[in-house]
Amino acid sequence: MNNKYFVTTPIYYISGKPHIGHLYTTAAADILSRYHKMMGYTTLFTTGSDENSQKVVNAAEDAGMEIKQFVDSEAQKWTEYFFTFNVKFDRFIRTTDKDHVKVVEDVVSKIYDLGYIYKGNYEGWYCVDCESFWTDKEVEDGLCPECKRKITRISEENYFFKLSAFQDKLLDFYKNNPKAIEPTSRYNEVVSMIQQGLPDVSISRKSQGWGITFPFDKNHAIWVWFDALINYLTVSGYLDDAEKFEKLWPADCHLMSKDIIRFHCVIWPAMLMALGLKPAKKVFVHGWWLTDGEKMSKSKGNVINPKDVVLDLSQKTGIDEALAADIVRWFLFRETSFGEDAVFSMERLMDRYNFDLANDLGNLINRVSVMTYKFFKGFIPEGNYISGDIESFVNEQIATFNESMENYRFKDSIEAIWNIIRRCNKLIEEYKPWELEKNDETAKLKDLIFTLLDEIRLIAIMIKPFMPKFSEIVVNGFNQEINNDLSIRKLNPGELIQFPKVIFPRVKKEKKKTKEAGKNSIKKEEKAIEYCSIDDFVKFDFRVASILEAKKHPDADRLLILQVQVGTTTKQIVAGIAKYYSPEELIGKKVVIVNNLKPVVLRGEKSEGMVMCASHKKKLCVTSPEDIEMTCGAKVK
Ligand code: MSP
Repeated sequence: MNNKYFVTTPIYYISGKPHIGHLYTTAAADILSRYHKMMGYTTLFTTGSDENSQKVVNAAEDAGMEIKQFVDSEAQKWTEYFFTFNVKFDRFIRTTDKDHVKVVEDVVSKIYDLGYIYKGNYEGWYCVDCESFWTDKEVEDGLCPECKRKITRISEENYFFKLSAFQDKLLDFYKNNPKAIEPTSRYNEVVSMIQQGLPDVSISRKSQGWGITFPFDKNHAIWVWFDALINYLTVSGYLDDAEKFEKLWPADCHLMSKDIIRFHCVIWPAMLMALGLKPAKKVFVHGWWLTDGEKMSKSKGNVINPKDVVLDLSQKTGIDEALAADIVRWFLFRETSFGEDAVFSMERLMDRYNFDLANDLGNLINRVSVMTYKFFKGFIPEGNYISGDIESFVNEQIATFNESMENYRFKDSIEAIWNIIRRCNKLIEEYKPWELEKNDETAKLKDLIFTLLDEIRLIAIMIKPFMPKFSEIVVNGFNQEINNDLSIRKLNPGELIQFPKVIFPRVKKEKKKTKEAGKNSIKKEEKAIEYCSIDDFVKFDFRVASILEAKKHPDADRLLILQVQVGTTTKQIVAGIAKYYSPEELIGKKVVIVNNLKPVVLRGEKSEGMVMCASHKKKLCVTSPEDIEMTCGAKVK
């Protein structure tokens, strides 16, 4: 069956606190699930909590709660946490769920009956935090090789899983399925791990009253990893829904980071092979979010809580928390390639917000909305696609978007969306709608606005897996049913559009709060800027700037007050161009300014530079870089 997509995340240790790393995997699964749903697939997306470990017992004790009460309340927090980020899973599986316990007992009995589980003596180490067994060779100074915490040496009678029996089968499987683990570097790592030999693994601990016990020996609890991996069978109807299982198995993608690939790429497929089932089609291993060069994790105390980021972003921008959560999840995939490690920075998030969302995307919607109201009273005009390469360009971007989504290259998918956004902004510059209106070129104007609105529809669909809340806002603004059709010209003319006035308010770069600090930073700026007189031409600092806001001067008909972005700073320029440009026309334009002209006050408004214009007789126009994608802040020389 081709039209199904079954994606999973690891089930998280219930005693941990969710952080960016957990959100990353879960949001990625949500993105994949939403995308495949959009493409007409039947999807199953599951996440959940790993609850049967010893450390849960310790954590409940620390919290002064009954274990069951503790896991119930923590599971509630995890699900609410994911809801905050607009994650729409089909099941949040808990390993204490009754159906899961039944499946684990069934699977363990089957593997035992098949002769792949046997009783033996275990001599070695166990790390309760990582829930991992370690050999003498692997342990140095009594510390866990993974988390570096003190671990205990144990000597007990245990059950073992005959992993050694699967070495050749696993090697064969990976040889025949070179895409079963991605990126390739992880595939190579796993293959070499298997080639080095696979000792049998201990899969039990003496029962301490918590966890699932062996159906045939109640004195032993099943090792949490053996129990946890089986969750993927539980969620797909393995025991209780043969039809569902038949349709969904094997999983299309298990997502995770590199810390747990041995379990998922060696032990888990061997367990499935023992049962006569196929391993997952793919394990995709994404990078780590790091702090100070180390994996972000609760045990290291270096985690970033994405909820704090949402609050911060919401405060800085004034947007509501649901949309801010959307932006955080988008940023995680916008910023870095999915397979690579990354470092989170609030500053980068704010830059991306300003450039990509407020400037590019927000501006486009705002400009097109203003023009639709100005020229067509807010109704979508009946028009054709504007001539030129726009149609083929957009189709190319959609193809890249799809191809990248299918290959887990989310950053590239987002880039394809932004290529359309930037192209649309450029179209406005090229076709100069205000001039079309002035020259009574109504048909062309209709074509342009219709094209731009249809592009916004496509953008809203493509961005939906990443920013479902934002997509909903835009889709609602069209006042008509928008399905997931990624072909062009699917907008019905004649409907009234109603987009919010400003979706992503622009944020000024944070200035130091205290008076003293304020003074210092002004001084610093003054030092850096070398003011020069108008005669001393060569000393002028010409820069490309992007016009963020424009309004009429309240006291002078001739003047417009512009907020422009130059590099990472925003400044105000008062320009005598009101006779030639309406404020709306200027928003989003890239212009050349004199950046180091000594600030002056013009009719009560500070002006920190000058917009370069060409003028001849009664004509005037601003000068713009020929390439609209030229970075603002770029030196003009
Ligand atoms: N309970 C096991 C998984 C059992 S699955 C059958 C477990 N839980 S965990 O809470 O430690 O989650 C590990 C997973 O969380 C990683 O594989 C990754 O998906 C995500 N992340 C946790 N920290 C991370 C980063 N710092 N960066 C990126 N993702 C990481 O292991």
